[in-house]
Amino acid sequence: MPAPMQPVTVHIDPAFAIAPVRRRTFGSFVEHMGRCVYTGIYEPEHPSADEHGMRRDVLDLVREQGVTVVRYPGGNFVSGYRWEDGVGPREQRPTRLEPAWHSVESNAFGLHEFVTWAQTAKVEPMMAVNLGTRGPAEAMELLEYANHPGGTRLSDLRHKHGRAEPYGIRMWCLGNEMDGPWQLGHQTAQEYGRRAAETARAMRMIDPGLELVACGSSGPSMPTFASWEATVLEHAYDQVDFVSAHMYQEEHDGDLASFLACGVEMDRFIGDIVATCDYVRAKTRQQKRIDISFDEWNVWYMSRGIFGADGPAGWMHAPALCEDDYTVADAVVVGSLLITLLRRSDRVTAACQAQLVNTIGAIRAEAGGPAWRQTIFYPFAYTARHASGTVLRVECRAPLLQTSRYGDVSALDAVATYDDDATALTLFAVNRSAHEQLALDVDLRAFPGYRVVEQVRLHEADVRAANTSARPDQVRPRKVTGSAIDQGRLALALPAVSWTMVRLSAASP
Ligand code: AHR
Repeated sequence: MPAPMQPVTVHIDPAFAIAPVRRRTFGSFVEHMGRCVYTGIYEPEHPSADEHGMRRDVLDLVREQGVTVVRYPGGNFVSGYRWEDGVGPREQRPTRLEPAWHSVESNAFGLHEFVTWAQTAKVEPMMAVNLGTRGPAEAMELLEYANHPGGTRLSDLRHKHGRAEPYGIRMWCLGNEMDGPWQLGHQTAQEYGRRAAETARAMRMIDPGLELVACGSSGPSMPTFASWEATVLEHAYDQVDFVSAHMYQEEHDGDLASFLACGVEMDRFIGDIVATCDYVRAKTRQQKRIDISFDEWNVWYMSRGIFGADGPAGWMHAPALCEDDYTVADAVVVGSLLITLLRRSDRVTAACQAQLVNTIGAIRAEAGGPAWRQTIFYPFAYTARHASGTVLRVECRAPLLQTSRYGDVSALDAVATYDDDATALTLFAVNRSAHEQLALDVDLRAFPGYRVVEQVRLHEADVRAANTSARPDQVRPRKVTGSAIDQGRLALALPAVSWTMVRLSAASP
């Protein structure tokens, strides 16, 4: 017998405004890790490659995914990276050992290729500088090369390399996960706080309009969280605009209930970082607010190991690393994490799903073969396309689910966005329950004249179903028809383990 429907009354009102939808929430991440760059976005021998060697099939998917900003070149990779290796004539670029991912780096793809790719993909580039094995001097040089119009050694070198126009990159990460003992050049909070502040100050002397991100902790389980953030900001508060946050989720030991509820962990993490930033603001008598760049988040089955059971198979160029086949459950979790990021748009003003292609990627691309959408691609693509205007809190009292990791968690996770000008209201909702359907009674009386334009749902009877090269379209969202508003109320059925988007409008059809 099917489980009974659990009734939930949901209230949406334009008065429940949180913050504007930030376009940078829909960022992604390209790292020189595994096959994200080589045979991911860049493969000159591929049949779809353009004149720069970029895969057009992947570019089409990136545009469809609605990615707005892309962080580059790492990640752990950046902490040993020499940006100079990746510019100039390709035949003169050095091949080097890349210790972070135990790989060989050809440097065939570097800054020029990335910015060219970003322009073709119509995404904003976000750069990271190496504060692991390098420091302020090299960051200043990279900035001069990238953003200065001309008339200096490094900006003229850029001209000589075929690019007269400065890149105008605005957002820069000051290193990566510098609290992590795995990081090349790992530092204490005191050391990194000073280095980040001095690097930021030097970079701002060249270009005061930059937006700078200080490294936060690599995750809430780091022993130094949140004293790391407090110490770093005590040094760098004046000089930076963001502190970074990183978090990966996976299902542990078959505990699906906790996995589906993991958005609450991201939400708590954001709340704790905000509290720490505001503590330093109060302590140092500052006016300005530090926002969060959640520049690494995703589902990642890290417990399966980076290199598989046998460890690295020697030093290889672009080995396949961390190429998870994402399931329906993973996609529902990604939908829920996006709901969390939207709900925290008052302080999370940039975010990057990690990563874009192949390595923990929303897109999978075979070398010389096809590219396809992983399950997690879909909630991202729909949310990026249809979240607009103002984020609205959704009020509800849903049944509580018992989870071993997070205690009692609401079965319904939801947020709405409201675009007054376009008369568009969009509801994003996840049923976190592994077994029970939810019967939503959505109170829309604050939106007179609205009707349902589209309802889309990602759900399969087999929550472990995934898209593979043999069956690339096995999992995809389906349209649901027949929902209508009656006297200001909308009835919606949300199956267990499902992600749903409902678009409403007051405009005439
Ligand atoms: O995205 C993969 C890796 O995860 C990044 O290189 C690092 O910053 C994080 O630990």
